[in-house]
Amino acid sequence: MSRRIEIVPSVLPADFSNLGEECRRLGDAGVDRIQWDVMDGNFVPNLTFGPDVIAACRPHTDVRFEAHLMVADPDLMAKQYIDAGCDLLIVHAETSTHLHRTLANIADLGGNAAVALNPATPIDELENILDLVEMVLIMTVNPGFGGQKYIKTMEPKITATRAMLDASGYDIDLEVDGGISKDTIAGAAAAGANVLISGSALFRYPTLAEGVAELRTLAEAAQ
Ligand code: DX5
Repeated sequence: MSRRIEIVPSVLPADFSNLGEECRRLGDAGVDRIQWDVMDGNFVPNLTFGPDVIAACRPHTDVRFEAHLMVADPDLMAKQYIDAGCDLLIVHAETSTHLHRTLANIADLGGNAAVALNPATPIDELENILDLVEMVLIMTVNPGFGGQKYIKTMEPKITATRAMLDASGYDIDLEVDGGISKDTIAGAAAAGANVLISGSALFRYPTLAEGVAELRTLAEAAQ
């Protein structure tokens, strides 16, 4: 049975001078949740949102917030991001020496955990932590910036990951992030992704609602 398609915006292309209103707009456009691309200028060559920025936006929408922690030390501020209103924290496997403990700690803090893999990282990194996550993110760009080109060679990796998750017996979503547009979303969904991050492509639509609707329709048709 196909898993429910979720369309999730990255706020990287949003108007940073008006983020609370942007979150309200996204909620009104029918997104399933909002992803905050948290970057520390260390793990990736870019710097974005601290917990206080996210906390300031929390009251502007009821939509779920997830924090994509593109940071060198995900343990350092996990609690602050949960307290800011992100109840799902996505940790990069490449950033955690003790990934099992990092993910378990997020649950101890009252959050939910997910794990992300960069394009070059093999999926066997997932083998011993699936009991600790509600989602796996397979990156379809190298992290750090919006507006990059979708890496189509990730599609067999997405399919292999979906098979691993199905065989695990755990109820785990598969998210993809990077270069998702009307031209690439069908390939990602057909490969097995059911949570699709879109930033620059979504914000290019005349209205956000139009973009959410088209991307959802294309993904559902491809499943
Ligand atoms: C990369 C970021 C981007 C962003 C989506 O670190 O995670 O992938 O969320 O950007 P677009 O949709 O513009 O590729």
